[in-house]
Amino acid sequence: MKFLPIGPENREKVNEFIARHWLSTDILIRGEIFDSTTCEGFLLENEESKKIVALITYDIRPTECEIVTLNSLIEGIGIAAKLIDRVAGIARAHGCQRLVVMTTNDNMKSISFYQRNGFDMVKIYRNSINENRYLKPSIPKISRFTGIPMSHEIEFEMIL
Ligand SMILES: CC(C)(COP(=O)(O)OP(=O)(O)OC[C@H]1O[C@@H](n2cnc3c(N)ncnc32)[C@H](O)[C@@H]1OP(=O)(O)O)[C@@H](O)C(=O)NCCC(=O)NCCS
Repeated sequence: MKFLPIGPENREKVNEFIARHWLSTDILIRGEIFDSTTCEGFLLENEESKKIVALITYDIRPTECEIVTLNSLIEGIGIAAKLIDRVAGIARAHGCQRLVVMTTNDNMKSISFYQRNGFDMVKIYRNSINENRYLKPSIPKISRFTGIPMSHEIEFEMIL
């Protein structure tokens, strides 16, 4: 798998991909809007169409690194796990002590995935989606994938 870093040559394509999968490039994290258009990250392209099939974006801070978005359209062959490994390596090299990622309570696939891939659940931001949905009104009240009300955020961490 050849992961490409996000750069000026693919930023527009990355922004379109994020807007398509997260309803906007503005990502709601801990009740605040986070602009993903400046994030670093890695992507995997379809060799023929050059369309993005997987993408991870992250934000490096002095002591921790946060995964801002993660999507894999070809599921179950380890692409997301490899993208996480890549970012964990970069975070370690920057001296970060933990890798953090937020997900919402309806997202059963990611709740399972993170716990099987080196993350532990550390905090629940109860009602953070309900209380801050006005910042991103496109966030549905009920997940169209699981039928579960989207209400809370859950923080996962990997100790590096
Ligand atoms: C959650 C998500 C990122 C997982 O992506 P993925 O590429 O399918 O992840 P992986 O292939 O690394 O792992 C998925 C499963 O496949 C299994 N798997 C990994 N490699 C495998 C292989 N070679 N053969 C068979 N199974 C394998 C893993 O055990 C894992 O199972 P688990 O989830 O029960 O732990 C993806 O489903 C997705 O994009 N979801 C929508 C967006 C989203 O929710 N993002 C995260 C929220 S922040």
